[in-house]
Amino acid sequence: MKLRRCAVLYLESREHLSIDWPTVLAGGSALASSTRWVALAPHLDQELDIDAAELAALGGISQTVWSERAASERRYGEACIAGLLQRGLLIGDTPAHATARERDETLRATHWRPLSALAHTFGRWREVSSENGMEAPSFEALLEQFGEPPAPTLELAPEQALKLPPAGGGPLDEALFRRYTGRNFDLQASVPLAVAARLLQRTFGAQQVRQVGPHAAVLKKTSPSGGGLHPVEAFVLVQRVEGVAPGLYHYHPIEHELRPLRPLDSEAAAALARQLLADQHWLADAPLQVLMVARAERSFWKYRNHQKAYRALALDAGHLSQTFYLLAAEAGLPAFVTAAINDADIERLLELDHLRHAVVAICGCGPAASGPRNMVELRYGETDAI
Ligand SMILES: Cc1cc2nc3c(=O)[nH]c(=O)nc-3n(C[C@H](O)[C@H](O)[C@H](O)COP(=O)(O)O)c2cc1C
Repeated sequence: MKLRRCAVLYLESREHLSIDWPTVLAGGSALASSTRWVALAPHLDQELDIDAAELAALGGISQTVWSERAASERRYGEACIAGLLQRGLLIGDTPAHATARERDETLRATHWRPLSALAHTFGRWREVSSENGMEAPSFEALLEQFGEPPAPTLELAPEQALKLPPAGGGPLDEALFRRYTGRNFDLQASVPLAVAARLLQRTFGAQQVRQVGPHAAVLKKTSPSGGGLHPVEAFVLVQRVEGVAPGLYHYHPIEHELRPLRPLDSEAAAALARQLLADQHWLADAPLQVLMVARAERSFWKYRNHQKAYRALALDAGHLSQTFYLLAAEAGLPAFVTAAINDADIERLLELDHLRHAVVAICGCGPAASGPRNMVELRYGETDAI
């Protein structure tokens, strides 16, 4: 049997701090520190503790060239090699090791930049909620906790400043100055179908399709996209859109269709929104939401092993969300975007592989509630504390 090391592996010396109570009780003040080696391998999607012998083996075995298992066993010991194979940090060429090998091959075939694969894999959330970390502190509470933030502006060379003429008005102004992040959605109101259709088409729809090969097309959209590849897909979570049953859909950007993936009753759709939004109930009430999922494999087809490619996926979703915000503002609706989402739960829901897809953000919109507001918003013309 032959083996090699998994394609992407980072090893972290993880520190654990604790109070050294005997020292403290003897009148001293002491922090005790211990360290352990943690293996971070994106194809395994979990952290693994390893010992010094395993560290040496992982450092000495090629990630590219297959070599005889027996040779590694002679050098590092049978138990060490067996343990690393069993945990998928070493990849074997026999059927017994097919699961880890397939994950490793998916990672190799997707052309991830290794550090990006690491940041992506270990930056995802599962089942995060207000109970275990998600919260919305006011700016005033933050001031109290952290003191003054860095200044809101940079003050560089003010003595040589060139005063600019006032910004003239323009056709975008109306939408720009109506845009704000809504956190008080009307629980009864729906988004009219025509508004939803325009929002989806003008944000996520293809405005033009250029055939560049027998099976290859370039889509032109209203937002820019790294490499013109438009890797971000729109999965639509409908709670209240006139004429559309609550549920989860995929928006087809060329056919301009909502393709049903999972029907949901209203309560289930609301509960799902809240779960995916890490318990941010102030956003979960929005009747129309879009889960933005980047197909990393489409972007990395061009940007192979590229330092900037993963960043471009986030930028693409950011552009789409601003277009979505402005179209919502045009229709008189507040909108939101958030990256504080349970992306790993979304992958499970949509049966997506995190090595091939990156769930980047959720945006949504809907009519604002009338009456007193429970959650802070930054609307133009208002000056309340935030
Ligand atoms: C990348 C990104 C992430 C955001 N995440 C959240 C969030 O998790 N929860 C939330 O209530 N608002 C979120 N927002 C909205 C911002 O808080 C909001 O844009 C900011 O307070 C300025 O307000 P405005 O959009 O009304 O101008 C996010 C915005 C961006 C661009």
